[in-house]
Amino acid sequence: MQRTPVLVVLLLAALTSGGGCGRSPDPALTGFGEVAEQKLTSQQAAQRDQALAARDDLAAQLSGRLLETLATQGPAAAIAVCAEEAPRIAAEVSDKHGISIGRTSFRLRNPQNKPPAWATDLVRRRVVEPVFLTDGQRLAALLPIRLQAACLTCHGPAEDIAPEVRQALAANYPQDRARDFREGALRGWFWVEVPAP
Ligand code: HEC
Repeated sequence: MQRTPVLVVLLLAALTSGGGCGRSPDPALTGFGEVAEQKLTSQQAAQRDQALAARDDLAAQLSGRLLETLATQGPAAAIAVCAEEAPRIAAEVSDKHGISIGRTSFRLRNPQNKPPAWATDLVRRRVVEPVFLTDGQRLAALLPIRLQAACLTCHGPAEDIAPEVRQALAANYPQDRARDFREGALRGWFWVEVPAP
């Protein structure tokens, strides 16, 4: 975990993302600066725990629905479930935990899963450790997701994806870039925004 001071991070972000111009404000990190996990105040640590609890809840619900549908109706049906239910489940978890949560990646299946502005630079850097940011009030977290064997059915190398799955993906996600991942690889992140206490 880096211990880079907030100001240095903001300065570097301004230098590296402005293309040397630096006039337009960088939306990527406005107001948010990275904070090392060991340096979280007790209030921020409570916000972090809130973020992790929401992440665990969303991960469990998504994989529960996925496995259930995979087992009963097969992968092609599970894709439709993912497409329709993933956003709804994320919205429910957001309400329940009083946070905002979603999933994102550097190679998206659904182009609507773009990272929030504060996370774009971290996504571009493909950070492999959890990152926490704060603006002094809110806490934001970017939490890596690695590919498990069960994910290969829909995110693995093309030759491992069944023809009917390929068809369903092509029909639902014409811009799909979320294939050819290997087991254990970084697939993307959960992002979480926790409001001020
Ligand atoms: C049955 C097919 C299927 C399986 C199995 C599957 N996914 Fe996905 N995945 C999808 C679909 C469909 C989407 C797009 C959902 C949406 O529209 O938001 C998606 C989206 C995602 C996203 C959001 C980013 C993006 O590219 O849009 C992540 C992250 C992700 N999957 C990770 C995983 C992981 C990790 C596993 C294994 C635990 C997994 N998936 C298993 C079909 C699958």
